[in-house]
Amino acid sequence: MKFFIDTANLEQIKEANDLGILDGVTTNPSLMAKEGISGTEAILQHYKDICEIVDGAISAEVLSTTYEEMIAEGETLAAIHPNIVVKIPMIKDGVKALKYFSDKGIKTNCTLIFSAGQALLAAKAGASYVSPFLGRLDDISTDSLNLIEEIRLIFDNYGFETEILAASVRHSMHIINCAKIGADVVTCPLPPILSLLKHPLTDSGLEQFIKDSKKLK
Ligand code: G3P
Repeated sequence: MKFFIDTANLEQIKEANDLGILDGVTTNPSLMAKEGISGTEAILQHYKDICEIVDGAISAEVLSTTYEEMIAEGETLAAIHPNIVVKIPMIKDGVKALKYFSDKGIKTNCTLIFSAGQALLAAKAGASYVSPFLGRLDDISTDSLNLIEEIRLIFDNYGFETEILAASVRHSMHIINCAKIGADVVTCPLPPILSLLKHPLTDSGLEQFIKDSKKLK
């Protein structure tokens, strides 16, 4: 399973990359705004900076919602670096844009997926990734893991190569359950990734080993 970090914060991206387990980065307009990035030049530069830190898939989201504008924007984003994946919302014009980029060999990530039907449409249009949002489904008392299972089944039934990129991942159990179901990728902020490290028995065991190691000197 691939690990992406879901942030536009360069320090956190560096920290995750230094762990040696990072396969890519996802961003969205809210995450970019949180870092105070604004204006086309600053946005493009920020993506360049991320591409210099991580050698992996870097999702860069279009800000427009019409077919023509998404194509123009996506082409500009894709020209930044070969690792850029153009992130496109699940809307009618978005599906057309996915097909356009797929035909041109440009990678895409279809975002804001909340149903198996949306994932199927995106895969039919040639999306490289679909991003079902787990946390936001849980927020409205809907079983988000059931959605991952449905998409996995559908993609496997027909051999779709589109990767399931579980997004809006909020905690370590989301990550573990996605791994059990067979999501191809999870993307989440740094804390859930770091929380996988932790176990109280590891801490107490190490404390005891350190204490006992002094008797060996
Ligand atoms: O990957 C999508 C993500 O950024 C949304 O996460 O926590 O805002 O639902 P969240």
